[in-house]
Amino acid sequence: MQSMTDKKRDFETACAAAVKARNFTEAAKAAAGAADCAEILASRTTGIVSEAYAKEVRSWRDLVKKLEGRKNGGGRGRPPSLEGGDEAVDGGEWLVAEKPDITFDDIAGMEDAKRIINEMVLYPMQSPEKARALGLNPGGGVLLFGPPGTGKTMLGKAIAGALDAPFYYASGADLRSKWYGESEQRLSQLLTSAKSQKVAVVFLDEIESLLPKRTENSHSADNRVVTQFLADLGGFKDSANLLLVLGATNKPWSIDEAVFRTGRFDEKVYIGPPDLPAREKILELNLKGAHTADGLDFHSIAEAMEGASGSDVAAVVSAAKRSALGRAIRENADPVLTAEDFKDASERIPLSITPEILAPYKKFMEERF
Ligand SMILES: Nc1ncnc2c1ncn2[C@@H]1O[C@H](COP(=O)(O)OP(=O)(O)O)[C@@H](O)[C@H]1O
Ligand SMILES: [Mg+2]
Repeated sequence: MQSMTDKKRDFETACAAAVKARNFTEAAKAAAGAADCAEILASRTTGIVSEAYAKEVRSWRDLVKKLEGRKNGGGRGRPPSLEGGDEAVDGGEWLVAEKPDITFDDIAGMEDAKRIINEMVLYPMQSPEKARALGLNPGGGVLLFGPPGTGKTMLGKAIAGALDAPFYYASGADLRSKWYGESEQRLSQLLTSAKSQKVAVVFLDEIESLLPKRTENSHSADNRVVTQFLADLGGFKDSANLLLVLGATNKPWSIDEAVFRTGRFDEKVYIGPPDLPAREKILELNLKGAHTADGLDFHSIAEAMEGASGSDVAAVVSAAKRSALGRAIRENADPVLTAEDFKDASERIPLSITPEILAPYKKFMEERF
């Protein structure tokens, strides 16, 4: 029997195909089917998984409404915008208007990545005349890759915060879900809008789902997205303006070969799991202002977390805080974090960095560099 997730995926595929064919009646039916599947999945699951499905239900239902408001048409004219009326859309919807308040100081370790980002992005953009005096042509592409939870997205946000330049953020997941069936046009708009700026940074998160390997078997629409996107990225580099594209991925091996062959990314930076000093710093950063027991030894807690990603360390701190709070309430005492809380928390949070997880990154680097 077909599983509910498979069924939902079939509706999603049908919806995308119908949008492409400008058959909005069919697309609306398929979107409603996907919403129903997501609703069933939400009822069968609990916690954040269920919440995520519930959120999906709402966005499919919104899409149904938008699609129902449209008339079917031939294959001509402007591509349909699922976003509100027919007004022109531009890349502005990805402009990060509010600067995130994360800085490089909030990021532990990653010295190589910070140096490269400083040299390639921040210094030339902060002091363009000095860069020009050296004949340095700033801009280009940087690919950040490494296991999940190692701070790649965080680094992107810190760059946005540090730059006094327009910063565009788009994630593969957004483009795939929010702009289902029209990610191609959306990406082009994003890059066109960035190119119209004198100075701009584009951060493409989860880039493997924007630039997946093209194969004979893959959906021809997917292949077209990749081809178009590669063309747009090429022009980006040749532009006279100061433009930089940052890409981040957990799965560099899933990215289309042409991305590497054509040198779209001048720098490829591996973001690995935090080493001992970095884990200790992540502990400190996440414990700022928290009541800790006298003599609590961050060093040995960090040491015991060999194999933790940055996000694992942050998760252990949160779990330890909850455990300390529970005890304080039970015992009607002042809340204080103890070594015992960290021990309990570490036992509950599985560490995500195993040799099996790291092996494909090593292999990728050996083959690429
Ligand atoms: N090097 C680091 N320094 C500080 N915090 C980190 C670091 N790496 C990960 N974290 C924590 O883990 C969370 C998830 O990291 P994220 O940037 O989403 O990882 P990625 O994009 O690589 O999957 C961050 O919000 C932060 O709390
Ligand atoms: Mg990320």
